[in-house]
Amino acid sequence: MNVLLAGGAGYIGSHTCVELIEAGHSVIIADNFANSCPEAVRRVEEITGKKIPLYEADVCDSAAVDKIFSENKIDAVIHFAGLKAVGESVEKPLMYYRNNIDSTLTLLEVMKKYRVNNFIFSSSATVYGVPKTVPLVETMPTGSPTNPYGWTKLMMEQILTDTAHANPEMSIVILRYFNPIGAHKSGRIGEDPNGIPNNLMPYITQVAAGRLPCLGVFGDDYPTRDGTGVRDYIHVVDLAKGHVKAIDYSGAHKGVEIVNLGTGTGYSVLEIVKAFEKVNNLTISYEIKPRRAGDVAECYADAGKAERVLGWKAEKNLEDMCYDAWKWQSKNVNGYK
Ligand code: NAD
Ligand code: WQD
Repeated sequence: MNVLLAGGAGYIGSHTCVELIEAGHSVIIADNFANSCPEAVRRVEEITGKKIPLYEADVCDSAAVDKIFSENKIDAVIHFAGLKAVGESVEKPLMYYRNNIDSTLTLLEVMKKYRVNNFIFSSSATVYGVPKTVPLVETMPTGSPTNPYGWTKLMMEQILTDTAHANPEMSIVILRYFNPIGAHKSGRIGEDPNGIPNNLMPYITQVAAGRLPCLGVFGDDYPTRDGTGVRDYIHVVDLAKGHVKAIDYSGAHKGVEIVNLGTGTGYSVLEIVKAFEKVNNLTISYEIKPRRAGDVAECYADAGKAERVLGWKAEKNLEDMCYDAWKWQSKNVNGYK
């Protein structure tokens, strides 16, 4: 298929681009580089040996998106183009609602005009809110997200569900990602957050690289194995392959399908630190800090539906995630800069 990746220069988009091309699909990227840079796309071209049509465009801009559809024959859209910093969304809710919801509406409107019916959406485990029980199954009620970012994802899931119901020709796959970490095995593409990282793995790799002095572990008094928070970390290449399966599935499916992309296994913060140290033969200095507002004790997926419906299952383990995350960071101490 010819797939438009909105936000395709970002962390998950760039890895998905590689996997789609390797599976024989063609891709077009639209990105405004709000949280990425053209160098990421150049490196995807280097890995795949393919030239990738790249539009510097805000996908909230109808005219810009229309131009992309008028110049290319597009079969499917994967929508990664969102702002994703939880803390920033609390401070700038309007910016988050405007960008994340507008981008979705604009893409759907232009798709309707050009009769493009296949849409894959980057949702998040955040829509489950505070889990009552784990593992999280897609049929469980979505909770009250603890921040505006999470609300944008829940609202977009509703918009997509209503859109699919109104247009029986459409195929919409909503992928609820758990915690993507790691990088492509080449070490050429990876996660490159702006400023001080909010997420655990980039914080650890920046401590390892000497960019940050010490990791703060947010709370050691949760009701978990060792008192630290438990999450379902998934290798970004496995996650990217899940998109290839979702694209294949969408070609033969109509309606809306919601699927968790996780491994089904939870690891604690300290288990991640220890695994990273062991695999890479490094020491990470850390200190226990108070709990971070909005964090939950445990969050991990029931990954069964992805296997049943998409024929997809995560294949990489925690050691692969830690090894590849460090390979990327150590070869690119300052990211793409
Ligand atoms: P990212 O910030 O690396 O990638 C998002 C990309 O979208 C960036 O390249 C950014 O420049 C672009 N973008 C943002 N707004 C845009 C707009 N209006 N027009 C054009 N481009 C725009 O983030 P990521 O980690 O690759 O996440 C991709 C998607 O997955 C996001 O929607 C995010 O909310 C979702 N998600 C991410 C995680 C995670 O932990 N990384 C977890 C769950 C869901
Ligand atoms: C993981 C664990 C922290 C940083 C976030 C979003 C979620 C989704 C994925 C987009 C927690 C602990 C972290 C640090 C720490 N994104 N931690 N010190 O919070 O599970 O999920 O990213 O949709 O919506 O909320 O991921 O990597 O921030 O935290 O101790 O410096 O690591 O408390 O237990 P989280 P994370």
